Amino acid sequence: MESRLFPDGELYVRIAGDVSGDVVAIVQSTGRAPNRLLMELLLTLETAKELGAERAVCVIPYFPYARQDSRFKPGEAISFGIVARMLERAGMDALVTVDLHLHRRKPEDVFRVPVENVTAMVELARYFSSKVKLDNPVAVAPDEEAEQWVRVFARELGVEYTVMLKERRGDEAVEITWKGADVSGRDAVIVDDIISTGSTIRAATEQLLSAGAKRVFAACTHAILAYPAEYKLSKVDDVVASDTVPSPYTRVSVARPLAEGIKKVVSRWT
Ligand code: R5P
Repeated sequence: MESRLFPDGELYVRIAGDVSGDVVAIVQSTGRAPNRLLMELLLTLETAKELGAERAVCVIPYFPYARQDSRFKPGEAISFGIVARMLERAGMDALVTVDLHLHRRKPEDVFRVPVENVTAMVELARYFSSKVKLDNPVAVAPDEEAEQWVRVFARELGVEYTVMLKERRGDEAVEITWKGADVSGRDAVIVDDIISTGSTIRAATEQLLSAGAKRVFAACTHAILAYPAEYKLSKVDDVVASDTVPSPYTRVSVARPLAEGIKKVVSRWT
């Protein structure tokens, strides 16, 4: 692949190799520059198909725009569905992604092509089990939607979990209420799919510390860390993230689950 920006800010993309007759896997994560990276993916995908690729699997470790999955206010774009359609129209035959932000939707509600939605939670739990000496730990979902992730994490780590209630009042305004497990004197690990502004982790950490938790850790798949996330994580002992969006907290790789997802998708065609 060759890709660069023209002086005017437009993108130039070239597939230098021969893809004719091939099944191609186009790997593009869309972390902190979603608009440019999405455009690059669309140009690459459609070009691969024009050059004769038989099928195209989009491997998008962090799938962008998934949080805007409904029209919360009249007139809003439902960006998740629109981005899905753009990729399908450009030639995506299947999607492999990691911990897709599915709060109100199932993959089949959004995509018309097969989706393999793999998880980083097993890798994150294995990291804690081998590298962090936790004291009587409890895993914590900061909101009800995160239960799908904390359940997998807690099972792999062999610990109990508890679920908080969250209300979001704005991009950075988050309120958490909780009457969960007794965390007094225990280590708590907050488990979520995304850390964006850090507001969720900060609110959950404050609750846990005031309930007497000994130490608070955070585990997440996608460390987006939108400004000013980092100072909001100051009361957290350590943040452990996967490499879907590289960050100073990246500790585990999603290569294994992604490879398994790609194999599953491709095996349907052979
Ligand atoms: C929201 O529903 C997600 O699962 C995360 O909790 C959220 O995206 C985190 O965002 P922030 O770090 O801005 O609170």
